[in-house]
Amino acid sequence: MTLGPADDGVGRPLGPVVGIVVVAAGSGERLGAGRPKALVEVAGRSLIAHAVAGLGEAGFTSVVVVHTPGEEAAFRAAVAGAGTDAGVEVVLVPGGADRSASVRAGLAALPGDVEVVAVHDAARAFTPPAVLRAVVAAVTGDVVAAAPAVPVADTLKRVDGHRVTGTVDRSELVAVQTPQVFPAAVLRAVATEGASATDELALVEQHLADGRLEGRIVWVPGSARGFKVTVPEDLELAEVFATR
Ligand code: CTP
Ligand code: MG
Repeated sequence: MTLGPADDGVGRPLGPVVGIVVVAAGSGERLGAGRPKALVEVAGRSLIAHAVAGLGEAGFTSVVVVHTPGEEAAFRAAVAGAGTDAGVEVVLVPGGADRSASVRAGLAALPGDVEVVAVHDAARAFTPPAVLRAVVAAVTGDVVAAAPAVPVADTLKRVDGHRVTGTVDRSELVAVQTPQVFPAAVLRAVATEGASATDELALVEQHLADGRLEGRIVWVPGSARGFKVTVPEDLELAEVFATR
């Protein structure tokens, strides 16, 4: 089923069984394209198709795509070619009202034998395959969560309304991307009904902070290509990354 990036040559997976959930059920308000962001085309194909192709290139053979409710047919059409070309089996499930609900829907659609789960944003359609593989490989031993991250380029200010009140020490900050990867039991334990956060790492952080869980959260070097398509200007950059 959802095998990891490599096998031993006779079909047995090396390493844990990995389940991939691509969350693509958002409406893309900030992009304002008049249709779900994941269906917006860049260099002739949809963002969700680019995302599936990247996962295929990284060696993953099966993904669950969590789509905008009511848009199953459009998503099926969008991923059909990409899945076939990349050798990826795509399972479609409808998402929820917020990202956490969509993650839960994806998690519920994974087979029971999955040992490690990667949650990836469709909006980060150009994450390099090497980053996808590296973050999955980082979940070992006492690691309870891993994600790619990049240094923060801008100087960050603390503000109060329009008043600048201070400078944040950038050296202790990184910007986190996806996929965010977890032992399956950990993600199932933290991504429960009512648990809501802007990313899944934050849910694990809460469980570590109050002693419900033990272990380490780690980050691996991400890539500028793993940026999240958010506003219309991002499509210009996406076009460049898609055609190289
Ligand atoms: N997502 C999801 N289900 C939701 C909301 C978001 O699956 N209910 C997904 C999006 O499809 C996206 C990822 O989470 O791939 C990151 O979210 P974001 O970039 O905020 O996408 P949107 O919510 O679609 O965009 P916006 O916030 O501008 O409406
Ligand atoms: Mg959003």
